[in-house]
Amino acid sequence: MKNEYNIALLPGDGIGPEVSGEAVKVLKVLESKLGLTLKLNEVPVGGAGDEATGHPLPDDSLETARKADAVLLGAVGGPQWENLDFSLRPERALLGLRSSLKLYANLRPAKIFPALVEASTLKQEVVEGLDILVVRELTGGIYFGEPRGVETLADGSRKGVNTLVYSEEEIDRIARVGFDVARKRKKNVVSVDKANVLECTGLWREVVGKVHQDFQDVVLSNMYVDNCAMQLVRNPKQFDVILTTNMFGDILSDEASMLTGSIGMLPSASVGGETGMYEPIHGSAPDIAGKNMANPLAMILSVGMMFKYSFDREEPNEWIESAVEAVLDRGCRTLDIMSKGMKEVGTRAMGDFIVQELEARVK
Ligand code: IPM
Ligand code: MG
Repeated sequence: MKNEYNIALLPGDGIGPEVSGEAVKVLKVLESKLGLTLKLNEVPVGGAGDEATGHPLPDDSLETARKADAVLLGAVGGPQWENLDFSLRPERALLGLRSSLKLYANLRPAKIFPALVEASTLKQEVVEGLDILVVRELTGGIYFGEPRGVETLADGSRKGVNTLVYSEEEIDRIARVGFDVARKRKKNVVSVDKANVLECTGLWREVVGKVHQDFQDVVLSNMYVDNCAMQLVRNPKQFDVILTTNMFGDILSDEASMLTGSIGMLPSASVGGETGMYEPIHGSAPDIAGKNMANPLAMILSVGMMFKYSFDREEPNEWIESAVEAVLDRGCRTLDIMSKGMKEVGTRAMGDFIVQELEARVK
């Protein structure tokens, strides 16, 4: 196993730099305790990329990401860049990284920590023990389909177009990821589509069914996306792996995250290419940026996923998850997961508590 890793650190915008700072504290603990050398190369992306170079994904940043063993990203976006042309918006950096690094598979675990059961807006018995993995296709579908854009017609009125496209090959490869990860879980995949209306997702259902023949130990069922949105709040524990398209996965993973108490708790891994990328699923939260209020736990849990998926080291991920659990059990809460009787802490203090618990765990 390697002992030296190059990590591209892309803090981005809004609360991105703050939560990245807490992730770095965690990396330092793992580095010294495990005798690793973790080389961090910090580069700007998103609005920060715009400010530095006039482009949300500077060539240099992309090159650094490409050469790294893994990429850690905070968040991108903010109101000050909302009026820029689409090609210059901070979000383009994220989409550019995903497609350039060929990260077609996005894994978004929505797992509830016992201490946060009461932070969920749903009843305790509905969410207790919840453990869902959303497998979202990430480099295709309506996010990338052509034609796209807004055109002005001869009469001066405008028409907006985006296109939902999936090739059999794209569906096949993401379906394999979904079945593969299900094998390490409860072996249950629900493939989510809108096959009653959209031909493209009719093909999705067909190809997923075909791939399933190679994974007959896994149970597959199909669900329309509207029904899935409803089932997620009605009875979320029926789900193990949700396998779905880029846009449906974007929407359903936000919904699934709230079942766990806060979107500030959910990490993600984007894999499939040579270099994996790890990021919290929350955005840049400009309203609370710079106020030491953001929840760093999704970012810290993303570090765990990086060790697991890119460095093939399970233990650091387990230590991090258990440190998070312990800190929550001690009653520490950032504002987004605050409830009565708990102790409210800021971003940095939360990071410090995690470091403390982690140090006690890593031999
Ligand atoms: C996400 C985000 C992104 C997406 C945005 C910021 C481009 O919402 O990662 O879920 O839509 O994929
Ligand atoms: Mg999203």
